[in-house]
Amino acid sequence: MQTAGSDNKTTSKPHWVNAEITYQCPLHCVFCYNPVDYAKYGPELTTDEWLRVFREARELGAVQLGLSGGEPLQRKDVEVLVAETTKMGYYVNLITSGIGLTEKRIAAFKEGGLGQIQLSFQDSTREMNDFLSSTRTFDLKSKVAKLIKQYEYPMVLNVVLHRLNIDHIGQILEMAEAMGAEHVELANTQFYAWAFENRKHLMPSREQLERAERITNEFRDRVGNKMKVYFVVPDYYADRPKACMNGWGAVFLNVTADGMALPCHEARMLPLEFPNVRDHDVRWIWEESPGFNAYRGDDWMQEPCRTCPEKTKDFGGCRCQAFMLTGDATNADPVCDKAPAHHLITEQVALAQKPQPPASEVKQVILFRDDKNSRKLATRDSTTPIS
Ligand code: FES
Repeated sequence: MQTAGSDNKTTSKPHWVNAEITYQCPLHCVFCYNPVDYAKYGPELTTDEWLRVFREARELGAVQLGLSGGEPLQRKDVEVLVAETTKMGYYVNLITSGIGLTEKRIAAFKEGGLGQIQLSFQDSTREMNDFLSSTRTFDLKSKVAKLIKQYEYPMVLNVVLHRLNIDHIGQILEMAEAMGAEHVELANTQFYAWAFENRKHLMPSREQLERAERITNEFRDRVGNKMKVYFVVPDYYADRPKACMNGWGAVFLNVTADGMALPCHEARMLPLEFPNVRDHDVRWIWEESPGFNAYRGDDWMQEPCRTCPEKTKDFGGCRCQAFMLTGDATNADPVCDKAPAHHLITEQVALAQKPQPPASEVKQVILFRDDKNSRKLATRDSTTPIS
């Protein structure tokens, strides 16, 4: 799929484009994957700029387009983006908290050919949903779920799992069933961005995880094919790393609200220069830019990845996780039990087995994703943790 990085050429295509069309969001989720310093980034791309990017990516072979954020519905032009990109031949997916999805808008999306709406819930209980997002949105989301069914979209529900809600897994699955969900993604928190800041409050214990998997499997046995349930295990509990993004610059192109093109959601944190779609066309970005070629192939790898027989399957894991935890993105992802820095993972896992304060106390200390905290984090000296 991809050639070695040294000649700056690739035969891969950006099949999947994810457009973070805005960093604005009415929610304040403690596990948000947007950069913690999002508040410092400049103006959002205009409608015309987005359409040019989508056209160029389509010419390069892109077929699937995710409109995400922030909360994409904060922008007024989503209807135009949907209608124009489906005409280009994209399968378009809206990734939303549901806030801002009125009947008028969903009717326009249907008319425009939107393929799928992925709705996120924070929990099955109003109390925890509203606490985790720092909003009163549970009832609103429930109404949106009904609208999605009414407009005959498949119900695709996403719930991020972590220490504070994983024990509600049975109720979360019952809620999904009552809503008539066809697909449920139970995605255990991956520790990047805001979730990394809150890692000690969000990491589940092994016991919690095993219970959740058992209940999910029992539920699957009961409902059969009626509902597809995906349970994404947190990689801290794995002994081999995930094949992040199916390889660097292999199939995935992420474009941020202000136009930065990235090979994954989190790469903005890396000490690399990434191109902006305002300055370059998508073909140059994908094929020629140093950022997209940095970790293609295996020339960049260090031991133990370089001679590891599994490197063609997992590509050495996640570059962003390697950088976050070891300070060098060319190191093996510490999740791998062959990685010299694997102890950084096992130490966190050991901490998670210890009793933690109840949710009512965590509320006082957990870091919510909001502009004030983001501005604070943007000016943080890396040696001084935010208080
Ligand atoms: Fe960036 Fe894994 S999130 S490579």
